[in-house]
Amino acid sequence: MKIAVLPGDGIGPEIVAEAVKVLDALDLSFEMESALVGGAAFDAHGHPLPEATLQLAKDADATLFGAVGDWKYDTLDRPLRPEQAILGLRKNLGLFANFRPAICYPQLVDASSLKRDLVSGLDILIIRELTGDIYFGQPRGRRIATDGHFPGAEEAFDTMRYSRPEIERIAHVAFEAARKRKAAGGPGRVTSVDKANVLETFQFWKDIVTEVGAQYPDIALDHMYVDNAAMQLVKAPKKFDVVVTGNMFGDILSDAAAMLTGSIGMLPSASLNDRNQGLYEPSHGSAPDIAGKGLANPLATILSAAMMLRFSLNQEEAARRIESAVQAVLAQGLRTPDIWSEGTTKVGTAQMGDAVVQALG
Ligand code: IPM
Ligand code: MG
Repeated sequence: MKIAVLPGDGIGPEIVAEAVKVLDALDLSFEMESALVGGAAFDAHGHPLPEATLQLAKDADATLFGAVGDWKYDTLDRPLRPEQAILGLRKNLGLFANFRPAICYPQLVDASSLKRDLVSGLDILIIRELTGDIYFGQPRGRRIATDGHFPGAEEAFDTMRYSRPEIERIAHVAFEAARKRKAAGGPGRVTSVDKANVLETFQFWKDIVTEVGAQYPDIALDHMYVDNAAMQLVKAPKKFDVVVTGNMFGDILSDAAAMLTGSIGMLPSASLNDRNQGLYEPSHGSAPDIAGKGLANPLATILSAAMMLRFSLNQEEAARRIESAVQAVLAQGLRTPDIWSEGTTKVGTAQMGDAVVQALG
């Protein structure tokens, strides 16, 4: 089992160190190899995704990823910005299926900005298509003004595009996931989020998801416009089960869903290709404002490592051990600042990681 470890920028190295600590404590035989990615790679090698880093990820069964980005790179040409590393990894490894579960842990129900009743027991799964849509449409760019001057551009454009096979395969992933959740007591429902009232791309999306859905008579399918979905997510989030949507809408809705759970610092994610090779990362960013201070919550990354064990390394039992350990530390009242509330114990990044290792039993 080979794991590529890509800590990245900002809080990335601190949180990934805690996840590695937890993996080490499992006593399974992993081969782990680290490489630079994002701004850190740009500083050292002049590129956010150096060839060696990409190759390491390609050769590994799974990649554990921290976060990338810092304001200081905002003035770089787009292909050199840290974010291009994650987009490049997704595209080059064909990681089209992004799983972003939003689970509200009972101990954290009061950390949510929504009322307790709305989020208590929340367990939804957002499945975001990750290698198509306006993120990767061609052509994109700016049209230079007639005087040929840059930055005198007159307009800028990106194109939204999906192909039939791209929509079919993500739809299958969503229906299969709903089936699995149904077997475990879930309602067996897929909500496909689109903007078919305005965009051709998403009328196409809706038609194809409907076609695929016909192959899953045991799963209920409904369709929702993205603006309404955003509203329903904060109004009655528990009505959702599996949500499937495109790259752009999924980016936005998954951040909104993350906050329902109390903290984006709690949410793991998995991005898989058709060979179950995966990239695992917390749903949050690099948080440069708190980097290096030991304040970051490592639980999203630790839970991402659990998803990695489950989806790419076939170690369900180890995955559950980690997830139970996380529940246990929360039950002990340990909280990083992002989830701290009166009456609980404030701990730093490394203390939280140590506590999870202890709780592994
Ligand atoms: C995410 C992030 C990325 C995205 C950025 C960093 C490119 O926001 O993973 O949600 O937009 O996909
Ligand atoms: Mg995002």
